[in-house]
Amino acid sequence: YINYHLSVPRKVVVDRLINGLKRLEYRGYDSAGLSVDEPQGVASGTKPELFRTKGNVSELEKLTATVTEPSLEVINHIGIAHTRWATHGEPCERNSHPQSSDSNNEFVVVHNGIITNFAPLKQMLIGRGFVFESDTDTEVIVKLAKFLHDKQPTTDFRTLMVEVAHLLDGAFAIIIKSSRFPGEAVAVKRGSPLILGIKGVEGNVMHIIPSKQAVTQVTLSEDDTKTPVEYFLASDGMAIVEHTQDVVYLEDNELLHFDKQGRFEMYSLDNPVEAGLPRQIFREFKKLEVELSQIEKGDYDHYMYKEIYEQAFTVNEVMRGRLDHAGIPGVKLGGVQNRISDIKRSNRIIMIACGTSYHSAVATRGIFEELAELPVSVELASDFMDREPPIFRNDTVIFISQSGETADSLIALAYCRKFRALCLGVTNTVGSAIARNTDCGIHLNCGPEIGVASTKAYTSQIIALILLALTLGEDSISTKNRREEIMMGLRQMSDLVKSTLALDGKIKSIAERLHKNSSLLVMGRGYQYATCLEAALKIKEICYIHCEGVMSGELKHGPLALIDDALPIVFIATRDKFFSKISDGLQQVRARKGQPIVVCTEGESDEFIPKEFIKIEVPPVVDCLQAVINIIPMQLLSYHMAVLRGCNVDKPRNLAKSVTVT
Ligand code: F6R
Repeated sequence: YINYHLSVPRKVVVDRLINGLKRLEYRGYDSAGLSVDEPQGVASGTKPELFRTKGNVSELEKLTATVTEPSLEVINHIGIAHTRWATHGEPCERNSHPQSSDSNNEFVVVHNGIITNFAPLKQMLIGRGFVFESDTDTEVIVKLAKFLHDKQPTTDFRTLMVEVAHLLDGAFAIIIKSSRFPGEAVAVKRGSPLILGIKGVEGNVMHIIPSKQAVTQVTLSEDDTKTPVEYFLASDGMAIVEHTQDVVYLEDNELLHFDKQGRFEMYSLDNPVEAGLPRQIFREFKKLEVELSQIEKGDYDHYMYKEIYEQAFTVNEVMRGRLDHAGIPGVKLGGVQNRISDIKRSNRIIMIACGTSYHSAVATRGIFEELAELPVSVELASDFMDREPPIFRNDTVIFISQSGETADSLIALAYCRKFRALCLGVTNTVGSAIARNTDCGIHLNCGPEIGVASTKAYTSQIIALILLALTLGEDSISTKNRREEIMMGLRQMSDLVKSTLALDGKIKSIAERLHKNSSLLVMGRGYQYATCLEAALKIKEICYIHCEGVMSGELKHGPLALIDDALPIVFIATRDKFFSKISDGLQQVRARKGQPIVVCTEGESDEFIPKEFIKIEVPPVVDCLQAVINIIPMQLLSYHMAVLRGCNVDKPRNLAKSVTVT
């Protein structure tokens, strides 16, 4: 948070930073820290104050309660803050950010990402007499800045940071300030997301909403040196939306420099004008499309619970303007329309994603094969990049990512782009790296997902992908009835989700029976294999219970050995074309004294499912959409079990929402 020409108490600066961190906490929450200018003010060039602690942002809030007000009036202030998800070095005070260059905190930095060449840089700096205090990769950034500055003290801050950025490998978004350059700050982005928000204060908004050509060279007013202005830099728009919606998304290899007068300039580190002289760039401001109400919990105890319930309307949001648009029956996907014929001409479709997003690919692979009549493969981004398989110009690659920022998926995207494959993004984050770097795409429009465990994004991903499959099959006469059946199902989705959510009370009572177990299996096949994988992931990540999704066709090839009368099992037994095989699986389990809880189709279960089994009867819908319905009881089950076990539902241990490191 940076303000110029504004007499803002330090307490307010700290509050702004802490509130911003709270909005970002889902990205990491094992330690936190912040730095504010010291009480004499930034202009004095003295030591900035650092507050850091292990634990979450509320711990930091307690620590900063002691912050005192300056004796002199401070009218420019640069505060930086960070909430961490540990990559290098255990979560503890000394590994928290901001990291500092020396005991005077001459340079302090916050960093999101990983510096992959930190080891040789560290060695070099140790050789030059630097003593490292943390185990982080981040510390090399500030030590390097100090080293280069001490060598050439006349270098200005921007040039210094251009030099530092050129020496760093890996992914990063950094914000750095220095008592050597009072009133200035530099931010650099490569790989990790960074967004700049700007807010004019006291009626000056008109002055700072920039002119068309030179938007990033903000004209503050006739008298630049007096206009109050606030800048917000963050990894995610959610941290700043309560202050401003006027934002600039930084691209990779871009650098922002804020000068003493309160102006900022934006540079590209690629294609320098001459060595060391970066090229200035200009970009238009965008409007942040997030509403404050979307990022608050409302009456719910947890974001995850709220997001599970939101599915009653998010399933419609993803179809809005796409299904039956303007009263014309059928599907129109604005964001991919121009590329549909190219996709149809592809030799194959590859879907690449991680975690839950990968499961949405597993859930829809079959319907793509059926309607698009193309070979379809599904890939975990990390494994895909371990293999670096052959990719061709006539491949269509679909990248599915709620955040649009997942590092593994982004690396796979860069790889596929290199081979000029047609790249399509399915993301929930407008302006995210995947949205920006793909040839075309579909937004999920389900609003910010804050609970670390993905719920509403998953069901929207399945629907978005099915809309795409329908579009790819739109010319086929042989699949016309099938497509109509699916569209009929889509139109009923919201009501079916509502009826499924009404099972909540029953599911809570099942959670009470199950939550003390240390292991659980979820079985099924066909379209429901994805449900098994996704249910198991939910239970693992928020309940810390070992849970496996088992393809029931594989039971006899191994997992059957686990079955006895003690191991809890959930069997997904939908009445679809695989049902007789599913029944076989159920019988195999029953014969080994297994007592599964069965998720089955409402009204059709009595005949086929043994009476002694507990049933969760869900409303039926066309087979390829049933995964949207069937996952809901499993989301609720994992949620209630996690609450009963006393787990931190929204922020499970060791995890983060946006995994911007590989
Ligand atoms: C699980 C979960 C993760 C994410 C994965 C990919 O509940 O949320 O498995 O699905 O990290 O994230 P995105 O979709 O943002 O690429």
